[in-house]
Amino acid sequence: MGKPDKTTSLPAWSATRVVGRPVPRIDARQKVRGDAVYTADVQLPNMAHARFLRSERTHAKIVSIDTAAASAVPGVLAIVKPDEWKDVLLKDNLGRGIPILADEPKYAGEEIVAVCAETEDAAREAAAKIRVVYDDLPHVIDPEEAHQAGQFVGGGWRKTRLGEPAVYQRGDARRALTSGGRSVRIFERTYRTAPMTHCSIEPHAAVASFENGRWTVWESTQGVFAVRESLAEMLGASINDIRVIGTYPGGGFGGKVSAGKYTFGAAYFSKKFARPVRFVQDRNEEFVSPYGRPASVQTLKVGVNTAGKLVAIEQKGIHAIGPYEFGAEWGHAEDLLTEIYECPNVHAESIAALTNVPPPCAMRAPGYAQGAFALEQMMDEIAAALGMDPVEFRLKNIPDRDPDSKRPFASPKGRHGLRECLAAGAKNFNWEKRKRDRKTHEDGSKTGIGVAATIWGGGGGPPAAALLRVHADATADLFTGAADIGTGIRTALAQIAAEELGIAVERIRVTNADTDLTSYTLPSYGSLTLASSGPAVRQAAHDCRTQIISLAAQALQTTEDQIALVDGYAVRAATEEQPEWITPIAKLISQSPAREIVGNGERGPNPKLALKAYGVQFVAVTVDPESGEVRVDELVAVNDSGRVINRMAFDSQLIGGATMGLGMAFLEERSYDPASGKLLNANLADYKLPTIFDQPREFKLDRVEVPYDANSIGAKGLGEPPVIPTAPAVANAVFDAVGARIERLPISRKRLIDSLMKEQAKK
Ligand code: MOS
Repeated sequence: MGKPDKTTSLPAWSATRVVGRPVPRIDARQKVRGDAVYTADVQLPNMAHARFLRSERTHAKIVSIDTAAASAVPGVLAIVKPDEWKDVLLKDNLGRGIPILADEPKYAGEEIVAVCAETEDAAREAAAKIRVVYDDLPHVIDPEEAHQAGQFVGGGWRKTRLGEPAVYQRGDARRALTSGGRSVRIFERTYRTAPMTHCSIEPHAAVASFENGRWTVWESTQGVFAVRESLAEMLGASINDIRVIGTYPGGGFGGKVSAGKYTFGAAYFSKKFARPVRFVQDRNEEFVSPYGRPASVQTLKVGVNTAGKLVAIEQKGIHAIGPYEFGAEWGHAEDLLTEIYECPNVHAESIAALTNVPPPCAMRAPGYAQGAFALEQMMDEIAAALGMDPVEFRLKNIPDRDPDSKRPFASPKGRHGLRECLAAGAKNFNWEKRKRDRKTHEDGSKTGIGVAATIWGGGGGPPAAALLRVHADATADLFTGAADIGTGIRTALAQIAAEELGIAVERIRVTNADTDLTSYTLPSYGSLTLASSGPAVRQAAHDCRTQIISLAAQALQTTEDQIALVDGYAVRAATEEQPEWITPIAKLISQSPAREIVGNGERGPNPKLALKAYGVQFVAVTVDPESGEVRVDELVAVNDSGRVINRMAFDSQLIGGATMGLGMAFLEERSYDPASGKLLNANLADYKLPTIFDQPREFKLDRVEVPYDANSIGAKGLGEPPVIPTAPAVANAVFDAVGARIERLPISRKRLIDSLMKEQAKK
């Protein structure tokens, strides 16, 4: 167990100077100037280069691997076949392993041989000259087909046997749906979401060096400690035989939570040849490695009573999780529907279908983004059928305690983030007026509006610790284990330290994500980083603050409660009897016994409350029913993540999340050829990502800061929530415009035209 919970016992800030301000990122200049070092940039003397040869077949037995021509390529150092690494497994969160190199590849692109060479070109040339003879085996790409064949396990966080789904249950949904008679209306629909790839700008990459019996690994990662643990296990080493340094990661989005096969490869070769080894995936490999959001097929059956209250939800979700059980934890989409609205009867089945595609991993709001696409469209459909406003229908179903855990919310009684986000969003969007606006225009195009809501955890928690050294010039070094995956967490943590110390944020230097220099923390995932590390940093800074105030009180021979720290000075306010006293913090520290002040902070546990973040998005679209083109005219995003530490970073998350959501809505899909099982668009030309042209003409961003006192900084997660409601909000707006429900993502022009024709055929 950790130390007693000191972090939550600090009182909430009353007035703040630095916290809440739109502070530009402390590393913005390095990034835009190209000075920031990413893993692929790491250059070490005498460095060798490694890469994988990947299976050309979707499912096959390897008959033979001929490396003669490859070995003759000048500069080749090693060619490793599956046998040599057969005892090494890369493991998922539940300990299920996959081989580093497969002797029976089960998806196109699976790693089968590793090559190490003097140069990247030599490694590439050698890999191309390896001759592999395959004996093809049958494959299945479609998750429904695998499900029907009984080839599935349960999705989510509990392991099940083959053929057994994971079940979430409360109340009795079946009974509620069958025995409600005429007072319960039932709605049913099946929704499909596409498999996606994170497409971080920086690919998965590691550089390893082995010196003095110890590895140093530079990695593009969300979690240096998770990489250390996973790599130690693969190497059969102890965790402290490895130092992991997180470079600027260049994006992660859930795809870089732990070590990869390439990490093992780099470390293995670096020891074998006693020289640094660089192992960087190329863009094509990013699409066929074990990463990405799995395809889902979700059937929802929802019952609602005449008063507009949800009575029961039945959900069956089938998710394509690859050929191994590895990664089956990401084959689920039930979480959102179990907790966002009040509903007494819920039955959800998660089916992780074994398919011949790369195993998935977390991707921004895993499960929730898929789940919201289904549920939030269904909410719209039900509201329309009941003749209710969709905002009002949602408001009617807001729970007064967490419907799953039954815990009270960590917010003041009577306040609920979703309710306040809906109200603020409707106002910003001018919802009431726009509902009455004309829909069809002279050119035949139609406008529509839609709304969708989201919920997410993001309460954070231990383990997270921080160390702060304040030097005699009143600058400070903050050490934190947290990776900054592009959210701006380094800046937010510097703000928290600056706030507490009464010094400028520019005076705080942040060293983060280094297993030797910084203390243990979880990876930056689950939108938990700020709420985990923020309170630890505040505690460390508070520790320093207390010591500085004590120095001031001694110098002045007064009590500590007389001293404040303001703008780099220790100050005692003037009273009638005495003038103001002021002295620089730097002077106090330079005259202190240690010549510096060191503070420690540790994240304490959370109270037993429901820790939830909320958001809504309202969108307006224009649809051309002739071409199927959809233009997003406006998107209003409102989120409640408690106290906003950095207004600029807050806005960035909303813009980034919604843009990624628009990619999910309109563009992103890994397209498999069912006959060959091969991915047809394993590159950024054919796999479409949203660009600035796909963004709404107008973004409006707002925040609702419902007081949150489950931790000492009053903040909860924001990274994932804004991606969740975008696709269903867009789909609802498209429906509003043209009357076709969107059952499959992405909404391509063809699919939209097809749905319109289907609707017309019904008439
Ligand atoms: Mo996130 S998808 O938990 O990094």
